[in-house]
Amino acid sequence: MWQTISYVSTADSSLTNEDMEELFEFVKVKNNELKITGILMHSEGNFFQVLEGKKALIIDLFDKISQDSRHYNIIKIFDRAIVNPCFSKYHSNFKVLGESNSHDELQNFLNEEKSYNPDNYKSISYMANKFMKLS
Ligand SMILES: Cc1cc2nc3c(=O)[nH]c(=O)nc-3n(C[C@H](O)[C@H](O)[C@H](O)COP(=O)(O)O)c2cc1C
Repeated sequence: MWQTISYVSTADSSLTNEDMEELFEFVKVKNNELKITGILMHSEGNFFQVLEGKKALIIDLFDKISQDSRHYNIIKIFDRAIVNPCFSKYHSNFKVLGESNSHDELQNFLNEEKSYNPDNYKSISYMANKFMKLS
């Protein structure tokens, strides 16, 4: 059983750039180890994350993430069962986009989505573009 969860949240204002880099690095390593795919974005003090993987793992992880004091105002966008993980076919690594690398990388990411996974592209591109203030 596979599950996907997506949410937006507000980053705690006390987080420094170093804290953010540390979090991004941790998330990439941990999710790749656990074969969790998706994306984490940070822009203007907010997070947007899509997680997909084995149901039990995703539910446990989201529970931990919800209790993490590094962010608050967590609003779920979706939480649903999926037949297959969408990202894993072509994004072998969990993707993290921060302020510094955001726009070009996001465009590349969305272009890949569009060609490999048009259904997913529709729901993610709207949200991601608004989130990153590209449109
Ligand atoms: C915005 C945000 C996103 C996070 N995303 C992940 C994630 O995708 N994977 C992960 O393992 N931890 C993530 N974390 C960290 C978890 O909240 C938690 O600190 C971590 O899973 C604890 O791991 P441990 O049980 O090994 O101590 C995130 C934290 C924040 C604030």
